[in-house]
Amino acid sequence: MATTEPPTPTPVPLTTDGTVHVGSDTAREWWRDAVIYQVYPRSFADGDGDGIGDIPGITARLDHLRTLGIDAVWLSPFYRSPQKDAGYDVADYRDVDPLFGTLDDFDTMLAGAHERGMRVIVDLVPNHTSDQHVWFQQALAAAPGSPERARYIFRDGRGPAGEQPPNNWQSIFGGAAWTRVPDGQWYLHLFDSSQPDLDWNHPEVRTEFEDVLRFWLDRGVDGFRVDVAHGMVKAEGLPDWHGHVSMVDGGSSDDQPTDPGAPEDGSTGAGNQGPMFDQEGVHEIYRSWHQVLAGYDGDRCLVAEAWVEPLSRLARYVRPDEMHQAFNFSFLTTAWDAAALRRVIRASYRANDEVGAPTTWVLSNHDVVRHATRLGLPDPGVRPNGVFPGDPQPDEELGLRRARAASLLMLGLPGSAYLYQGEELGLPEHTTMPDEVRQDPGHFRTHGAEAGRDGCRVPLPWRADAPGYGFGPTGATWLPQPESYQRYAADTQYGVDGSTFELYRAALALRRTEGLGHGGLSWLDAWADSPDVVAFANRGVAVVANLSSTAVDLPDAEVLLASGPLEDGVLPADTTAWLRG
Ligand code: NOJ
Repeated sequence: MATTEPPTPTPVPLTTDGTVHVGSDTAREWWRDAVIYQVYPRSFADGDGDGIGDIPGITARLDHLRTLGIDAVWLSPFYRSPQKDAGYDVADYRDVDPLFGTLDDFDTMLAGAHERGMRVIVDLVPNHTSDQHVWFQQALAAAPGSPERARYIFRDGRGPAGEQPPNNWQSIFGGAAWTRVPDGQWYLHLFDSSQPDLDWNHPEVRTEFEDVLRFWLDRGVDGFRVDVAHGMVKAEGLPDWHGHVSMVDGGSSDDQPTDPGAPEDGSTGAGNQGPMFDQEGVHEIYRSWHQVLAGYDGDRCLVAEAWVEPLSRLARYVRPDEMHQAFNFSFLTTAWDAAALRRVIRASYRANDEVGAPTTWVLSNHDVVRHATRLGLPDPGVRPNGVFPGDPQPDEELGLRRARAASLLMLGLPGSAYLYQGEELGLPEHTTMPDEVRQDPGHFRTHGAEAGRDGCRVPLPWRADAPGYGFGPTGATWLPQPESYQRYAADTQYGVDGSTFELYRAALALRRTEGLGHGGLSWLDAWADSPDVVAFANRGVAVVANLSSTAVDLPDAEVLLASGPLEDGVLPADTTAWLRG
């Protein structure tokens, strides 16, 4: 019987084809190539033991972030709020909610971050306030047609007695987007009824938010993540719309179906998000905010949360006199598919290079199923609305392997990358959370049809052997943690070769020393059209991601880093490697 020789790996050349994106020797402003870490304050670390994360908790864990090697932190809202939408319902834009601490605590945290060389971006929620905001309380107390009502979108209803909502818009969280007040008028809320939309045609609304920007800029923040940046201005006359409204795809209209090739298409003249989103009028607001920030030193920045497609349309938010960055949700929503990823990467550079803005990359945040779970689901997709215990459950091991590969691919790309707290530990979504503990308004407003976003918002595990996995001093956690979180606790990963934390740390360190964030990108010839592999060169580093279920031969090159164990000369399935030729 013939002996079987191990296969000899075929040498793969590291040559590249035409350049997709040209890099620069240095990044001009810090945010152009920054790695920005999202802290969701309720769930990061609890300082006082009430089971809800807070600002002192963040301060106490700043060294985790410094060790990880990020450039900046973005904090989700910590302002005074009745917490109907986890703080995205702001009652006072200039104060810290007692749940999270005080303004002094904020200043201490900000100083601590700055001392460690990290910048801080805060969240701004300008589309709507809380119904507890003084303006809305005044509007409720005032009569129809009063100046107090003019800051919000109050209208008379349709039907003989005005008993029908003014138009057919649906709330993104489910149900009608209008709620009726006792005197018969209706007010608009694109989200929960506790989040009335402001009328951005009102000059007081504009001056108030410019003042809020200055309040935080004066305190020393480095920028703002702008919530629902595509929603503040609505189409004149608030016309009916028959499309589908969703936070994670910006909606799609039956009349104007989304072009399946949209991310490739830089030429679509208009968005298709309906009359509530992506209206021309929003850009004037960002031009004035740009001026406010330009009056401060230190390259302060504005980041758009705008679920707008195609990418050429999104790029309009980051024209030179508007915002500085926009989240690349087209990348986040792309399937684990080599050709689709190459398409979205190419389209991202094409659209952003056109306006001179950095491309951003993101895989997880507090509104979507964590990518370690998404990529392990039998039918991977974004699953914006969470996973129920009765749904097909993810393959945890496959999800983590792919998540590490996806993150290493992302961190090799030129541009700025956003990380969501816990992804550096490889955390999965809590997919077996009982309905009784859920808190997302999206779950309730759909009468339980959607699981909601609680599964990605579970308090972080810091210590494997402590109650609540070390989230806080008492073991209390506002949402239950799955048992699996014990294996992911930060203290089990520090200094451990091969742990997800050490993988991210090594990737961020190399990204910095090699200048990958402000590098250029060209596809490697060997895989330029491969259905299995995404491979590109960036400043002499080759990033090779194998998305298939079988190993592929690797080039004969020094391995700088890999998302999983490598076998001799081959790159296993669902693994990414960084090489130097
Ligand atoms: C987007 C935020 O990310 C989300 O969490 C929030 O519910 C909505 N905007 C409404 O503010």
